[in-house]
Amino acid sequence: RPTRIIGAPIDYGANRRGVDMGPSAIRYGGLAAKLEGAGVSVVDDGDVRAPRAEERDPEAEMPTEGRAKFLRETKAVCTSLADRVAETLSSDELPLVLGGDHSIAIGSVTGSARDADIGAVWFDAHGDFNTPATSPSGNVHGMPLAALLGVGDFAGVEWANAAGLREENVAIVGLRSLDAAERAAIRDSDVTAFTMSDIDEEGITAVVEEALDVATAGTDGIHVSLDLDWLDPREAPGVGTPVRGGVTYREAHSALETVAESGSLRSLELVEVNPILDEQNETASLATELAASALGQRIL
Ligand code: ARG
Ligand code: MN
Ligand code: MN
Ligand code: MN
Repeated sequence: RPTRIIGAPIDYGANRRGVDMGPSAIRYGGLAAKLEGAGVSVVDDGDVRAPRAEERDPEAEMPTEGRAKFLRETKAVCTSLADRVAETLSSDELPLVLGGDHSIAIGSVTGSARDADIGAVWFDAHGDFNTPATSPSGNVHGMPLAALLGVGDFAGVEWANAAGLREENVAIVGLRSLDAAERAAIRDSDVTAFTMSDIDEEGITAVVEEALDVATAGTDGIHVSLDLDWLDPREAPGVGTPVRGGVTYREAHSALETVAESGSLRSLELVEVNPILDEQNETASLATELAASALGQRIL
């Protein structure tokens, strides 16, 4: 399928400034050329409009309980992103969303799940399962999965709750950093979580195959959300919230090749690239390679 690139250049949801430059860094890293080299036809749709954080009041809109910074702006950007993703799908193209911090997944996934039942595979060091009430940071990039599944109060839930996504069809892969309340919430949910220990024990192929079974069971296709902090910081230093002990370069490629082989990919996003922390733009260029693997690039 032809692929349409949509950038969401925001870092409202992250505590560290710089991931708003992710879309630019990933394009500069050669995304379009890399995909064309893999035989994928690509259109670049530009970025969704996003006001600069400095011009905004992070507390302009707050949930009734707890804290979520830039909730009003996040809502606006995610709403227009969701429309762009849904339009892309209805013209039979595959949306490839470039973040931006992980809060943009609220837009990508609600858009992808608007007219279909979908599953989601979340490649991430983190669970992203906080709510405004449990979050220690108030950063929405630590909350998108909870929001999408209708857990927590996000100053209204309609905009954030993905109609066609059920907990039973969500798999997190590569977990190694959770806040206490978030850990309890994941355990109580019907989400399937594969930790780094699972990858150590079973190997990346078995874990990704199980994750794909979870996400594809009874669904029309899957959304893959790739937080670059999923990889070890030695491979991907340019991320907002690095955590040691992540997957290797080879495990990451292998995982995304397994995704491609499943034939079930419906929408893809690359998030949390922070070029400010990465002089050689290594992380963004790695992101372009992994997108190519997910979209069918093969060595031979
Ligand atoms: N758990 C932490 C928080 O809620 C970190 C979240 C990191 N999320 C991410 N998408 N990088 O603040
Ligand atoms: Mn994340
Ligand atoms: Mn993360
Ligand atoms: Mn449940």
